[in-house]
Amino acid sequence: MNIITKLALAAGFATALSSGAMAQDISGKVIGFSQIGSESGWRAAETSVTRQQAEERGVDLKFADAQQKQENQIKAIRGFIAQGVDAILVAPVVATGWEDVLSEAKEAEIPVVLLDRGIDAPEDLYLTSVASDQVLEGRVAGQWLVDEVAGEDCNVVELQGTVGSSPAINRKQGFEEAIAGASNVTIAQSQTGDFTRSKGKEVMEAFLKSSNGGADICAVYAHNDDMAVGAIQAIKDAGLAPGEDILVVSIDAVPDIFTAIAAGEANATVELTPNMAGPAFDALGAYWADGTMPEKFIITESKLYTAADDPQGEYERRKDLGY
Ligand code: AHR
Repeated sequence: MNIITKLALAAGFATALSSGAMAQDISGKVIGFSQIGSESGWRAAETSVTRQQAEERGVDLKFADAQQKQENQIKAIRGFIAQGVDAILVAPVVATGWEDVLSEAKEAEIPVVLLDRGIDAPEDLYLTSVASDQVLEGRVAGQWLVDEVAGEDCNVVELQGTVGSSPAINRKQGFEEAIAGASNVTIAQSQTGDFTRSKGKEVMEAFLKSSNGGADICAVYAHNDDMAVGAIQAIKDAGLAPGEDILVVSIDAVPDIFTAIAAGEANATVELTPNMAGPAFDALGAYWADGTMPEKFIITESKLYTAADDPQGEYERRKDLGY
């Protein structure tokens, strides 16, 4: 069974594949993919799934790893334009600074599809954006916490994603919206962990030190699971029980967070499908077939998982999907 079939079988991924049955033939197309890097398990899965989707559809995928740097992405996109690719996929590391290079792609009549992150630029510079509703993700995480603490005072420490990236901005906003009506839940400290496990651990260690060894912290909200996994290690190293002494809520639904939930060391995660490429290729296929303009924003599902949702089973379903 290939990665995509397994993804389709994993309950939460079904919607992202909904248009697969109608997919147009795009074999032979050359498509450039400017990927951010490999900062997280989720990112690794998105890369694997994109490669797999391209292979299945007979697409010649030109892959460029930007190693977290926007300048590398801009260089890669210019390279794709120079090569005359048929389309460009880009997962933009930060939200700003894209107008010039995307205008160049537009001038060259190369359609651009944004994957998993948004940008602050005129919408006519890209064909469509395949991403989750990141504000909703933050709201779902925040609402889970508000419900969980049920009126008890709760000091939250927040591990933000990459500074200036759309998920960091939007997941923060959504969480703040969710806790706005709950005066018992407050964000005590907030800092970037850059979406990585190592930074998540490092920042959590600092939070614990400045919060009475962790005694003043009720919960950690991490903008992705990798930072949460790093934070869990820091909490354990401090002699506390993650998931009990300090609640842990995050976003992505990667296999490792389900292992932590099954062990009682994490409490909740919001799923982000790594299959952004499937809907992107479908949109491009329809566009090339008869000029069909896709929705400007193709939104993937944001499902909450907790210990009540068979975390061991969710781990098993995801463990071979390229995370
Ligand atoms: O843009 C999506 C985010 O980027 C994922 O939540 C995170 O794990 C990744 O690094």
